[in-house]
Amino acid sequence: MRRKIVAGNWKMNLSFQEAEELINDLIDVLEEESPEAEVIICPPFPFMELATDYMEEGLFKVGAQNISPFDAGAYTGEVSASMLKSMDLTHCIIGHSERRKYFNEDDKMLTAKVNQAMAHKLIPIFCVGESLPEREAGKHLEVVRRQVRHGLFHLDTDEFAKVVIAYEPVWAIGTGMTATPEQAKDMHAYIRTLITERYGNEVAQATMILYGGSCNSENATEIFAQEGVDGGLIGGASLKVDEFISICKQASV
Ligand code: PGA
Repeated sequence: MRRKIVAGNWKMNLSFQEAEELINDLIDVLEEESPEAEVIICPPFPFMELATDYMEEGLFKVGAQNISPFDAGAYTGEVSASMLKSMDLTHCIIGHSERRKYFNEDDKMLTAKVNQAMAHKLIPIFCVGESLPEREAGKHLEVVRRQVRHGLFHLDTDEFAKVVIAYEPVWAIGTGMTATPEQAKDMHAYIRTLITERYGNEVAQATMILYGGSCNSENATEIFAQEGVDGGLIGGASLKVDEFISICKQASV
């Protein structure tokens, strides 16, 4: 049995003071009742240290929402994998559909980001997922296959074994429209088949595949109960302590 992961993607939300409050509240609750699931929080860069300051307590791990495809140097505004590693971050989200859409991140750039994460020993939480027109056209498997292959399948087996994948149907993100448990289960099984073909069954069975897209305290139990769903990448609901903790607990059973 893989231990589930619940990762909170705060996106571009909260003020410094609100972030501090959220982290303090999270710590208070997690100290009282630590869920079995591995908890990861991904705050915006300027608030990172608020979270890393408490990492030693082992209540949660800290991830970034993005990294630069470049190593170091004259890249104004960028944040490198090595900088994040030097702050003891463990994970970074790569390939989120919002980055693909609003920042034109294509397969080539995402490959470079994955390579940066690998080079600096950050675990990528690599996001894949189809848009609504793609699903309606019956192209969802094809789209996800391309994203997984282009983004990750250049890695050797040891590297790939470190990756976490998040299946996030674009039409479910921030819309309140969750994938049905069957849709999640089917896509997770499909992704695992692709991994089996490339890296073998043992690696495929060990790979963590999270679901993301309007996951909340009302639907988490059902989604997490699906075979092959190893936890969630949580956006909106990760900004409310009660919601987030409830989701973490539902991933523990
Ligand atoms: P959501 O976002 O939970 O707000 O739908 C999920 C995500 O984008 O990671």
